[in-house]
This record gives sequence, C-alpha cells and structure tokens, in this order.
Amino acid sequence: MLSFGKLALLLLAVSLQEAAASLSSGCGKVSGTSSGTKSMTVNGKTRQYILQLPANYNATTGYKLIFGYHWRDGTMNNVAPGYYGLRDLARETAIFVAPQGLNNGWANNGGEDLTFTDQMLDYITSNACVDKDQIFSTGWSYGGAMTFELACSRPNVFKAVAVIAGAQLSGCDGGTTPIPYLGIHGVVDSVLPISLGRGLRDRFLQLNGCASKNAPEPAGGSGTHIKSTYDCRPGYPVWWIAHSGDHVPDPKDAGQRVERAERQQQQQRINDIDYHNLLHHSDNNSRWW
Ligand SMILES: *[C@@H]1O[C@H](CO)[C@@H](O)[C@H](O)[C@H]1NC(C)=O
Ligand SMILES: *[C@@H]1O[C@H](CO)[C@@H](O)[C@H](O)[C@H]1NC(C)=O
Repeated sequence: MLSFGKLALLLLAVSLQEAAASLSSGCGKVSGTSSGTKSMTVNGKTRQYILQLPANYNATTGYKLIFGYHWRDGTMNNVAPGYYGLRDLARETAIFVAPQGLNNGWANNGGEDLTFTDQMLDYITSNACVDKDQIFSTGWSYGGAMTFELACSRPNVFKAVAVIAGAQLSGCDGGTTPIPYLGIHGVVDSVLPISLGRGLRDRFLQLNGCASKNAPEPAGGSGTHIKSTYDCRPGYPVWWIAHSGDHVPDPKDAGQRVERAERQQQQQRINDIDYHNLLHHSDNNSRWW
C-alpha cells in the first residue's frame, strides 16, 4: 500500500516529468537552427517555409510555436513577417512559421500538406526550443481550411486553433477529438459563405461537449461584430465571432483605426483580442482576456 508520503512523491515525479516533457528536444541546442526560408523534401517534393525565431532567442526557453497558413493564391511571404498581426502581440515570446502551399493552396492531396506539417514540427521542435504544450495554428480562407484539417487530425499536438473565414477544403482526417476552437466569419462573405464556417464550428461544439446556445450574428454592413462564448467541457472552449463584413482576414468594426500605434494601444480589433486569447490559452484556461 502506498503511504500518502510516497503517493505525494510519485505525483511530484509525474508532474516534474510532465513539466520536463513539455520542452522539445531542441532545447539546449545553441546553434540548432536560425530564422529564414527553409526547404525540405516531403513525399519527393521540395517544400518551403519561413521560420521566425524571437529576437534574442534563448535556447533554454520553451517558446510558443505558431503556424500561419496563407490564403488561396497567397504565399508564405504574405503571412511573414506579420503573421496575421500576431507577431506584434507576441512581443518576441513566440516562434512563428509561415508554410508555403503547393500551387499557392492547401489541397492536401493524399494528406501531403499534413505530412509537410508533421515534418516541419519535427524539424522545428528538434532544433529549436519549443514548449510542446503551446503549439497553435491559424489561417484565413484556404489557410483556415488547412488549420481546420490540423484541428481534426492533430488535436493532441496543437493546443488551440483559430480559423478565419474557413471551409472544409483541405479535409478533416480524424475529426473525433476535441480541441479549443475559435471561428471568425463575415455574415456577408461572398467567397466562402458563413454557413460553411458555422459547419466547421459545429463539429467542435459537438466534440468539445458544448451546451447549445443561441449565437446571434450582426446585420451585414452594420460595422459591428458579435462574439459568442460557448459553455464546453473544461479546457475545450469554443468561440464564434460573426462580423458584419465580407471575406477578409482582418475584420474591423466601423470607426476602428488601422494605424499601427493606435492599433497596439487600443487592442479593439477583434482578431487581436482573440489571437491574444489563443496565445495565452494554456496560461489560464479559465481566463481568456
Ligand atoms: C534563458 O532562459 C532560461 C530559462 O528560461 C533563463 O533561466 C536564462 O536566464 C535565460 N538566459 C538569458 C541570457 O536570458
Ligand atoms: C486564472 O484566472 C483567474 C481570473 O483572473 C484567477 O482568479 C486565477 O487565479 C487564475 N488561475 C491561474 C492558475 O493562474
């Protein structure tokens, strides 16, 4: 029989192991890798991505790792260096990745873009210091579709995802395990109608065990947004932000200024608020801004 003392030691050992296990194998490698455009071979094809380490990168700090997938006919160079506005918010506390799709898209034929993602994860976590409990993905449009595919297929690798104006265009391999999910969509989206984004959301409402709830949406063109927070299993929240606009990566309410300095101060842009939430997800599951 275990005494309480031994049990406590056992629990302590397990939690220490877990704490250590969240640091990737690249921790401690002083010249493991560097920022820049990288290439790798995936299923015989050359694939590229941009890797951005924080300024003053410290090889013994476990950093957040954030993937930003580009839109249809976009490129990795459109996502870097801003990474959908996240890099400013992260203030050099995260590693960013902008992968490049084949034919500037994410058809994910035969799962090849998923394999590409797995290989990037393997390289980056083996050569840079990553907190493996804080790996995130986001993307707009086709990049949102690829992010959705990762939510379906790698829910135990990614901590949370943010899908902006997405649809199921890159598949949903698996799709049976919960993961924290943020969906953002415009009510008058003329490219991927909002019903498609609701469909993605609804899959995770079900998987995450969320109570059903009315999620109101603003009138088209009203210059507003409405955020709904669902009541889900602890640790598996779902948010839905419906904005009044079209197919855009960075929706703003009427009157919101776009100047960089203003933006940093007011933090009113809905993307900023919710990306901030995603970045801080594992810091405190019960607090999201
Ligand atoms: C690097 O990170 C470790 C762990 O977070 C910290 O103890 C150390 O002081 C950091 N080194 C520098 C030079 O900031
Ligand atoms: C999480 O946030 C809540 C609300 O701010 C706070 O009361 C609580 O102490 C936090 N928990 C942790 C573990 O930081």
